Amino acid sequence: MENLWQQIDALRSEIGSFATTRADEVEAFRIKYLGTKGVVKQLMTAMKEVPVEKKKEAGQLLNDFKSFVTAHYEQLLTGIISDKDASTIDLSLPGQPFPIGSRHPVTLMKNRIISIFQRLGFAVAEGPEIEDDWHNFGALNLPAHHPARDMQDTFYIQQNPDWVLRTHTSSVQIREMEKGQLPIRMLMPGRVFRNETVSARSHCFFHQIEGLYIDENVSFADLKQTLYFFVKEMYGPNAQVRFRPSYFPFTEPSAEMDVSCFICAGKGCTVCKRSGWVEILGCGMVHPNVLSNCGIDPEKYSGFAFGMGVERPAMLKYGVNDLRLFSENDIRFLRQFAAAT
Ligand code: PHE
Repeated sequence: MENLWQQIDALRSEIGSFATTRADEVEAFRIKYLGTKGVVKQLMTAMKEVPVEKKKEAGQLLNDFKSFVTAHYEQLLTGIISDKDASTIDLSLPGQPFPIGSRHPVTLMKNRIISIFQRLGFAVAEGPEIEDDWHNFGALNLPAHHPARDMQDTFYIQQNPDWVLRTHTSSVQIREMEKGQLPIRMLMPGRVFRNETVSARSHCFFHQIEGLYIDENVSFADLKQTLYFFVKEMYGPNAQVRFRPSYFPFTEPSAEMDVSCFICAGKGCTVCKRSGWVEILGCGMVHPNVLSNCGIDPEKYSGFAFGMGVERPAMLKYGVNDLRLFSENDIRFLRQFAAAT
């Protein structure tokens, strides 16, 4: 014990008189006294030898010593900094460039769409890109050999044909419904895959945003109001909307929605193929079979769903004429969106 007192005394005077403004010496000081194998650690280990009745006193002594060393180290540090400030930093040097990245146009469009529906209380849900047959097809009222499976050219996983690359994010709707927490008001953004020839207008993967609303007494009128709101926010107050009857196995009734062409304002151009209308999404009332497949009582609950692509509106908004540009990672293309919103 006596020994420990003496040792620490000696160390205190040694440390107290140590001064430097050199960074490497300050670091050496830290390693010597405060490092993992430093003097303070060694003394702590030596504590084991101290007899039990002296432990408390010795512990106090060591803690004080440690604070003393730490305080001295911090002083040395400020010494270096103030020294640097005064002489070694050249304040006239130009600053470091701070490059700012840009968001991908598909992400920009996705965020834009999501933010509109978020204002109506829709939350975002995500799910896996590799799906089982049940979530991508079966639960969506597309049993094996259903002809409508051919509507979407599916990539199957060779090792296990029960697995597919999801052809739509409707699979995430199933996953949300299976959780059984109602009501559901959700958006499902994500990448989807279809075996199509790659060209300027189609690709084997692209992005979708689907929406799902399930509660008691949800009607087609709610669906229309929600989509009207979306279109006005997205394409402005003058945009016109029309619904055309359509077919999807998972919705009944089903519709496709067109907006008046926002390029030519309905006068007729190449984007709307002179029709004045651009198709933007598919939608409908969730089929009762889909609800029961997910354990939801179709007598009590009803809901609507819709799904739209992200690339096409992004192409129209940013004037991109080739779908392949989105996935080529060409920095010259991507940089053009640094200021875009
Ligand atoms: N899943 C459909 C598709 O990918 C889109 C859709 C979603 C249609 C929801 C109706 C309702 O084509």
